[in-house]
Amino acid sequence: MAVKKNTLKLKFDSSRNLAPALESKSVAKIAERYDLFINGKFEKPSSKKYFDTINPASEEKLSSIAQANAADVNKAVVAARNAYEKGWKKTSPKERAKYIYRIARIIQERARELAVIETLDGGKPIRESRDFDVPTAANHFFYYAGWADKLEYAFPNRNPKPLGVAGQIIPWNFPLLMAAWKIAPALATGNTVVLKPAETTSLTALKLAEIIQEADLPPGVVNIITGAGATGAALVNHPDINKIAFTGSTDVGKLIQKAIAGTNKKATLELGGKAANIIFDDAPLDQAVEGIINGIFFNQGHVCCAGSRLFVQESVYKIVLQKLKDRMETLIVGDPMDKNTDIGAINSKQQLEVINKYLKIGQQEGAEMFQSACSIPKKGFYCRPTIFTNVAQSNRIAQEEIFGPVLSIQTFRTEDEVIEKANNTPFGLSAGVWTDKGSKIFNMTSKLKAGVIWANTYNKFDPTSPFGGFKESGFGREGGLHGLGAYLKV
Ligand code: NAI
Ligand code: MG
Repeated sequence: MAVKKNTLKLKFDSSRNLAPALESKSVAKIAERYDLFINGKFEKPSSKKYFDTINPASEEKLSSIAQANAADVNKAVVAARNAYEKGWKKTSPKERAKYIYRIARIIQERARELAVIETLDGGKPIRESRDFDVPTAANHFFYYAGWADKLEYAFPNRNPKPLGVAGQIIPWNFPLLMAAWKIAPALATGNTVVLKPAETTSLTALKLAEIIQEADLPPGVVNIITGAGATGAALVNHPDINKIAFTGSTDVGKLIQKAIAGTNKKATLELGGKAANIIFDDAPLDQAVEGIINGIFFNQGHVCCAGSRLFVQESVYKIVLQKLKDRMETLIVGDPMDKNTDIGAINSKQQLEVINKYLKIGQQEGAEMFQSACSIPKKGFYCRPTIFTNVAQSNRIAQEEIFGPVLSIQTFRTEDEVIEKANNTPFGLSAGVWTDKGSKIFNMTSKLKAGVIWANTYNKFDPTSPFGGFKESGFGREGGLHGLGAYLKV
């Protein structure tokens, strides 16, 4: 197929000249300092230590966050245990649902404030926090509220019972959504919770603590403690925890697995990914390119199921590559508070260093790097959308999780070849298939080793559908009915 001369670029170039459309910060009430949320109250940490949380788009300090030590972790676990034994496990399912609905509704009422704080603290575009993160977080609470009094129907004749106290540790890529994702099913099934957000993005979890207070949830049912890896490890190792739910890096996932081996603690681990997005020559190419762009550049590529590897059937490689490059040139990288921004700030300096390290590795390995020509702000942590071509299957950029806006591109000829290449990583979280042919979709989805496979779309999430991985991407499922099972003895 001949490569058509591209008009796309000219048509879109002017978008860079859009006048700034900044979201107002005035709705975001951020206190100078945040304490630990234990037993229904905000308490000073016994460590007396606080750490800064910054805005990665400007490097300005937003607030001080309490650092929980082992004594604080213990306090939170004791509060959760008491709340479980003395009340929550005996609370009628209907009553539990009432609280969860209330939390969902208050999230909706405070949606704008939550979206602005999410963007300030984490760097993701306001459009995404506003249209995806916050509404999806509310939807998770709504969805699981509906299950609370129907567990007997969800697990017929299996007498479902809660596990007890759940320790939950979440990452920085979808801070509020991950908190909702973890807390909602735990409450619906009658468990109590100690949750630890990631150290760079604690603010919306602490706002959620305020919402939980406002919803009048009995004290101790949800406790939110802040801190870094050591706080997380203290939670994992606490003897009175019945279940660990973790989302984050494969390295920490492995540490957690070791730590709980030989204990009665149950675990669900949702770890890294290196998803393959596969374009066949019969695919609707414009739609596919849009899906590839969304798959890797959405949320700066800080997505465990990001489509970070692209496989294009050889006969359409040239045209797909050209369309991809042209579309990349139209992406706006910059202030996440600007409603025109497509790619916001990288979450932390540390993560930017990881991404930059991989950009070097890719070039050293002999791959060819292409970045869009856009300008990026001088202050803050940013990375231009990047693709690598001439990538070999064994290259580190094709095997390891980069967790940034970086795509590696390879070609293939046959279905068998691409299945083998796509499955050839230690991960197995997600994949995408683009083709006009239904039979090809079925063949691919049955042979690709991935927990979630999208066809002719990408990055679609819904509370009703289970999510989770194979191999080093972790185990257990979250979301849907499966997500309930992970918090029950049946
Ligand atoms: P991380 O796994 O260190 O952090 C995730 C959470 O675990 C945070 O709340 C952190 O405080 C906590 N944590 C850290 N060490 C712990 C320990 N020993 N015990 C218990 N909890 C602990 O991830 P990090 O360093 O922020 O990112 C590193 C890489 O991990 C990224 O470059 C990316 O490849 C991957 N990642 C994957 C995510 C996913 O959604 N699957 C999310 C975040 C990162
Ligand atoms: Mg921050």
